[in-house]
Amino acid sequence: MAHSLARSTLGLTSPAPIEPPKITFAAKEIDLVEWKGDILAVGVTEKDMVKDESSKFQNSILKKLDAHLGGLLAEASSEEDFTGKAGQSTVLRLPGLGSKRVGLVGLGRCVSTSASYLSLGEAVAGAAKAVQASNVAIALASSNGLSADSKLNTAKAIVSGAVLGIYEDNRFKSESKKPALKSVDIIGFGTGPELQKKLKYAEDVCSGIIFGKELVNAPANVLTPGVLAEEASKIASMYSDVLSATILDAEQCKELKMGSYLGVAAASANPPHFIHLCYKPSSGLVKAKLALVGKGLTFDSGGYNIKTGPGCSIELMKFDMGGSAAVLGAAKALGQIKPAGVEVHFIIAACENMISGTGMRPGDIVTASNGKTIEVNNTDAEGRLTLADALVYACNQGVEKIVDLATLTGACVVALGPSVAGIFTPSDDLAKEVLAASEISGEKLWRMPLEESYWESMKSGVADMVNTGGRQGGAITAALFLKQFVYENVQWMHIDMAGPVWNDKKKTATGFGISTLVEWVLKNSSS
Ligand code: BES
Ligand code: MN
Ligand code: ZN
Repeated sequence: MAHSLARSTLGLTSPAPIEPPKITFAAKEIDLVEWKGDILAVGVTEKDMVKDESSKFQNSILKKLDAHLGGLLAEASSEEDFTGKAGQSTVLRLPGLGSKRVGLVGLGRCVSTSASYLSLGEAVAGAAKAVQASNVAIALASSNGLSADSKLNTAKAIVSGAVLGIYEDNRFKSESKKPALKSVDIIGFGTGPELQKKLKYAEDVCSGIIFGKELVNAPANVLTPGVLAEEASKIASMYSDVLSATILDAEQCKELKMGSYLGVAAASANPPHFIHLCYKPSSGLVKAKLALVGKGLTFDSGGYNIKTGPGCSIELMKFDMGGSAAVLGAAKALGQIKPAGVEVHFIIAACENMISGTGMRPGDIVTASNGKTIEVNNTDAEGRLTLADALVYACNQGVEKIVDLATLTGACVVALGPSVAGIFTPSDDLAKEVLAASEISGEKLWRMPLEESYWESMKSGVADMVNTGGRQGGAITAALFLKQFVYENVQWMHIDMAGPVWNDKKKTATGFGISTLVEWVLKNSSS
């Protein structure tokens, strides 16, 4: 049967090998009016757009541009009612500058976050696509106020937005055209080795994000657990100076007593693969040992508690390995960045949640690798069953801190909507670390309570616990379940990313989690 095939041929689909676009980034310190190219884009806040009584800009950069354009910039922005609000943008083809076009992109009020600079980069990429631009420049109307450190992070966010904005996953389209964009200049952020290093860092993280997006976008007939394991091994061999891979098959998982994970995998023709990558710096002492654990359901049908009815999104359940994509995307980025002083374990219990005569029945009792027994009162709460054994395995690696990421509950999407992930941790220190990382990455996280009294609903009459409580507080009871499988002496955080994994409007994966994870690992490193 299909058991021996890592690469499924179902539907005869195989992804076209598409090279990610190659764009050169350069930091320049030149006068905006002299820059030559297709689009000169300026990020502006609402405050920057304020005009005086004679309808002239007060901001010095806009004033200067407008002077070269004979007042047309002020006039056009008023006519188009462009006020610098977040999400607003306008591109004008005006004579009088070195650049063919000038674009204004709204950043919102004066407060500027990484998220707003990511959007700026994305908006510029969108504008570049629309006019087939091959070179663009990006500047801010007011970058003087920024500290040296925030200049670096701002440049990083803008560049990342541009790279990710220009990228399109066309691997499964029979025809696609290449983006025309070749170069992006960023002006007004200084120059020098520190900025160069930051830009290189942005590119490394973006390559991890693109890899993660491709994993999530790949359908379940192409990306089976075996293929996910192959992809993980490829990453390890690409950066073999710092990464190594261990892949366990079902038999080896059985030896480790991973009954909870294997229960979920039992219905599937595509066998499970337990993935463990390890990052170790090639020299120097290790001062922190971390683990990143990702939910890796390449498809979630629900099992016997099958996903039915409108809104259950069964056709989107290829994204149920979004946690593992975040973990592997981070591994790829870290393989390139090679931070010192930190060891990182990347752990994924990959499988499918299917239906067959060999599958788990509702009411079955499974035994996890820490000896705890679970009455499976709902086969659709499978992610936590796979994570249970993955968390025990992570603890056994002797790590001090674990972050797990999972598309775990619809309840979390109801609570926080599609763009914000829920974080759950008993550790205030870990919460602080990861939240600080997310501020730089621009990803939205919100801390949720681990309300112990809700554990009441997870009690079983016959086993140590059931795998689902009631409908109320579903994201919290899921997190409390995971907590049963984490050793007391390990700091642990669970990130429920069921909402942010997917962009419904764009019908594509977001690559959520990767930039925050990389940022967090670097905070724990000594480089
Ligand atoms: N993968 C789903 C969670 C999910 C649902 C992610 C919708 C993204 C969008 C998970 O395995 C699941 O089915 N959870 C159940 C748990 C319930 C049975 C307690 C859910 O959320 O409905
Ligand atoms: Mn499920
Ligand atoms: Zn699931």
